[in-house]
Formats: sequence, structure tokens, C-alpha cells
Amino acid sequence: MGDDTRFGRGFTLWFTGLSGAGKTTISEIVEKELRERFGRVEVLDGDIVRTNLSKGLGFSRADRDTNILRIGFVAKLLTRNGVAVIVSAISPYKEARDMVRWEIGEAFIEVFVDCPVDVCAQRDVKGLYKRALAGEIEQFTGVSDPYEPPAAPEIVLRTDEEEPHDSARKVIARLEEFGFLWPVKEFDRV
Ligand code: ADX
Repeated sequence: MGDDTRFGRGFTLWFTGLSGAGKTTISEIVEKELRERFGRVEVLDGDIVRTNLSKGLGFSRADRDTNILRIGFVAKLLTRNGVAVIVSAISPYKEARDMVRWEIGEAFIEVFVDCPVDVCAQRDVKGLYKRALAGEIEQFTGVSDPYEPPAAPEIVLRTDEEEPHDSARKVIARLEEFGFLWPVKEFDRV
């Protein structure tokens, strides 16, 4: 019974991966499930954060790191107040991600949204790969800028091989295993 107190702690689910890998799509499904089962949820999505908190930042390493550390700072504040935080940002540099991991501690759950760059480029949901490959966008992650994969992520999702709902289900199952989410018998609601 004493063990039950561990449920309800805040945590940060940090989705990292290339543009178009499926970070936002999967996180939206996870968000819905967490709203029903956990309650307090906040989402920090790179595309949105860059219109306010990180407005004016570009895509140099320094600017990306600033963006990630800002998101990490907010995620930390929310996490320590019992919120389920969902971050979706390319976050291409391992060092910056590891700094956030260190700040947040054991409540940091790194989710590597793994998808080959050619598959992302084929999907090209925003039409950015086409422009990047044509040389119209500089420093585009995966094309003309690096992406450093996580060395030991808590969760790996292969979005070229699994459907978004399957990926989301994996995330929920891991949260249950880690003791962040009360397990339910049928979690195929997502
Ligand atoms: S991060 O590198 O700082 O983590 P973030 O996730 O916030 O990136 O923003 C990435 C989004 O910005 C992409 O999904 C894409 O829509 C847009 N974008 C514009 N220019 C670039 C670029 N050079 N590299 C990557 N994404 C870019």
C-alpha cells in the first residue's frame, strides 16, 4: 500500500528525433491518454515554443541549445509540481539533452523517435525536406546539420515500422512499468 504513493509523481517525456519522424503525432495520442488517466498534462512542442518562449532563435548549435535548455527549465518546474510534461523537439545534441536529464533526474524519460532520414524526407509533411535538399534551407537536421541519437534512451520507437497508436501504447506501457502511471488492465484505449 505504501508503494502507491509513488503514483502521481510528475515526469517529463522527452521526444527527440528528426523533423517528420512522428514526435508530435505520437505525443498527441499520449497526451490524450494521460489527460484521462493522469490529469495534469502540459505540452512543450518545439514548433510552438519557437513562436513564443524561443521566438527569434535560429538553428545554429548555440540557438538550438538555448531552445532546449529553456524547454528543459520549464519542464523541470512543471515536473517538480506533479505535472506530466510532454516535450517534442528535435533536440539534436546529446550534450544539451543530457544536461536536461541531469536537471530533471529520474523523472526524465527520453523517447527516441527513430526513423531513417529518407523516410522522413519522403513523408515531408511540411515540405521542408524538399527545400532543404534544394539548398533553400541551411542547417537542416539530417540533411545539412547533425542529429546525435541518444546512447541509452528509456524508450525507442521505430516509426517506419510501427503505427503511431502502437508507438503511443509502448510509451504508456513503459510509464506503467516505471511506476509513473497506474496500470490498467486494458490499455488499448489509445
Ligand atoms: S531544435 O533543434 O531546436 O530542437 P525544434 O524542434 O525546436 O528544433 O524545431 C524544429 C522545427 O523547426 C522543425 O520541425 C521544422 O518545422 C522547423 N525548422 C525550420 N528550419 C529548420 C532547420 N534548419 N532544422 C530543423 N528544423 C527546422
